[in-house]
Amino acid sequence: MAHDRAVGIHDLSFATTEFVLAHTVLAEHNGTDIDKYHHGIGQRSMSVPAADEDIVTMAATAAAPIVERHGSDGIRTVLFATESSIDQAKSAGIYVHTLLGLHSATRVVELKQACYGATAALQFAIGLVRRDPAQRVLVIAADVSKYELDSPGEATQGAAAVAMLVGADPALVRIEEPSGVFTADVMDFWRPNYREAALVDGQESIGAYLLAVQGSWKDYTEQGGRALDDFAAFCYHQPFTKMAYKAHRQLLNHCGHGVDEDRVSRDLALTTAYNNVIGNSYTASVYLALAALLDQADDLTDRAIGFLSYGSGSVAEFFAGTAVPGYRDHLRTKAHREAIDRRTPVDHARYRGLHEFSFPADGGDHRTPAETTGPFRLAALRDHKRVYETR
Ligand code: COA
Repeated sequence: MAHDRAVGIHDLSFATTEFVLAHTVLAEHNGTDIDKYHHGIGQRSMSVPAADEDIVTMAATAAAPIVERHGSDGIRTVLFATESSIDQAKSAGIYVHTLLGLHSATRVVELKQACYGATAALQFAIGLVRRDPAQRVLVIAADVSKYELDSPGEATQGAAAVAMLVGADPALVRIEEPSGVFTADVMDFWRPNYREAALVDGQESIGAYLLAVQGSWKDYTEQGGRALDDFAAFCYHQPFTKMAYKAHRQLLNHCGHGVDEDRVSRDLALTTAYNNVIGNSYTASVYLALAALLDQADDLTDRAIGFLSYGSGSVAEFFAGTAVPGYRDHLRTKAHREAIDRRTPVDHARYRGLHEFSFPADGGDHRTPAETTGPFRLAALRDHKRVYETR
């Protein structure tokens, strides 16, 4: 169904962690040829949260500049997408709602479907805005990607939050209909409730992702979507940046285009710059790809951007967005660069210590060391309750 009024992403801001681990440090520790990390999987470093950082502090840090710029009037819904949930009942978004001082007349909910959750949140937000174009929805995607130490997945960790303000007449990207959607019941990646680190069958997850690319594109085409050649660039979910290349080659092949590496590079190169140094941010990653594209591309005004969102398990969606005239005046390129550059490099011992950090489950008063220099911190776990503060 065609709509007169554009709805989409009005503002976008991301945050990441206090610390960063270079892949050179990991490679030196485990004896891996650094070319495997730099070229084989396409990663140079990964964000590491401080002990007093988590999905809430990253989410609030990402969303605060949006509330500062636009105010909170009209934000009646906060959708928080994550697969690194901190509570099985309470939405992490409620802590963010408090830290940002949002109105009590707000609905807040958490959404989960592995790395696909943020796209569900974006689409649900668009539905709410279509129902009442005066409303705006704060969509937040925040995740800490964590695999076992010394496992193959270890090199594909990372952490970040992306906040997006979704509304009518957006200043950045109009989201189009239709969407192509795809679900298949696979066990490529999962995290049982009793585990902190995810379980993954890496090769299975690559195969499942590629099948989902085909499946969601097929549905997109059947729903009357654009032709492949319409797109100026493609933002893929990037568990590691080389996955975007595998996925795009799959799409080109599937569409009978053959694989022209110059074209693959032209379609993707700008979208991997942030993921390449932040690492896997799970459900935030496809929107970090969008941030990297918008921040670096010369001018995408009125050009179509393809999005392929994949979440293990698995659900995928292909959809299109169009950069709107004047979008470049609303970007946060400088702040985004600063969020990456401000991180402090850690050595391997410190990284391992942070990786293994967890609170005792005894209900005591457990304060965290004051490590983050960001605006919000997780100060303690007291009486089983997480205590956040504004620095
Ligand atoms: N120089 C250059 N490239 C090298 C290399 C070297 N010395 N050594 C290996 N490589 C390449 C391999 O050829 C391979 O590339 P290809 O897939 O294009 O063939 C790539 O580096 C990875 O090597 P591989 O042997 O497959 O690595 P691995 O067994 O350590 O697993 C992942 C890599 C990505 C599968 C693993 O890190 C993982 O499981 N990560 C989690 C995946 C995930 O997040 N899935 C979630 C949802 S999508």
